[in-house]
Amino acid sequence: MSNKFWSELTHRLTPYVPGEQRHGDSVIKLNTNENPYPPSPGVMAAIAAVDADQLRRYPDPESVALKAALAQYQQLKPNQVFVGNGSDEALALAFMAFFTNKAALQFPELSYSFYPVYCDLLNIEQRRLPMLENFAIDLPAFENNQSGIIFPNPNAPTSLAVSKDEIEALLKRVPDTVVLVDEAYVDFGAQSVVGLVDAYPNLIVTQTFSKARALAGMRLGVAYANEELIEALQRVKNSFNSYPIDAVAQAAGLASIGDEAYFQDCLEKVIATRDATSKALSEKGFTVLNSKANFIFVSPPDENAQRLYDFLNDRNVLVRYWPKGVLSKWLRISIGTQSDMQTLVSAIEKLDYS
Ligand SMILES: Cc1ncc(COP(=O)(O)O)c(C=O)c1O
Repeated sequence: MSNKFWSELTHRLTPYVPGEQRHGDSVIKLNTNENPYPPSPGVMAAIAAVDADQLRRYPDPESVALKAALAQYQQLKPNQVFVGNGSDEALALAFMAFFTNKAALQFPELSYSFYPVYCDLLNIEQRRLPMLENFAIDLPAFENNQSGIIFPNPNAPTSLAVSKDEIEALLKRVPDTVVLVDEAYVDFGAQSVVGLVDAYPNLIVTQTFSKARALAGMRLGVAYANEELIEALQRVKNSFNSYPIDAVAQAAGLASIGDEAYFQDCLEKVIATRDATSKALSEKGFTVLNSKANFIFVSPPDENAQRLYDFLNDRNVLVRYWPKGVLSKWLRISIGTQSDMQTLVSAIEKLDYS
């Protein structure tokens, strides 16, 4: 579609396409890396306790209580914390704040597909680095004196993580370049680098409440960095939307941070199910990368991922498939409950891979 009132920019855009949101009792939804478990009971109680006055009034524009709780949780100062409407918003504001200079933004060829979308929207030059043969990120290939570097850790869709030491070596090597580590999936088994923000003025780390904290529907994301980088995000945010975090989300986020035992319990369940599913599929001849996330990246024995995708889709098991290029032999499968994953494995057993 096109229209004469559209700007040139609007014509040029290729927007991000999120995974399908098909619902119903018979649907097993393993395509958007959501948490199969509900948010903690404390979160639901906090949401229920939101009163009419909190909705009648504008929310706290600076989410002071939530930032203070996050700062305490991460042993940082509140002015080293930024909260956004999902980490997608924190990322978008970071792109505006740091990456719109002349030089290129560097990111791995296989990574979160929103990055090139933001680049197109903001006219940012891209430098996409080829993956190593084992799908790892080629960290030594990132260069200093560019506008920035961004990569997810663990990476999406590959599920692979790099170590804190490797990231620290990169930070030392590129002191004049902003390094944004997107830790959307970090809780499921990777090492966070949030603790390095005091030592490295070029580091910014984003996290989300959407995955490990089961609040994708709430839209709450966080960025951690030194106070100058956080101030940059604040400046852009306050030039765009003063109140991105509504009162309900602030209350829910606060309650979630306060319930560590529930959080850890949820993580343990997802990790155990992930490892059991990886093992079951490997035993059936699938190639399964060593996931540190709440999803697995797998290639079937005949490498015909399209056939497997269609087969599962026909049985209402939704997974993510990208039919073009190198990804076309692979599926990204989110980790559901143990029973969801048993259904998946049983369905796959019906396919003949002999
Ligand atoms: C790597 C990565 N970063 C960021 C996000 C955005 O998460 P949200 O906006 O829900 O916080 C996602 C969502 O799937 C993701 O996969």
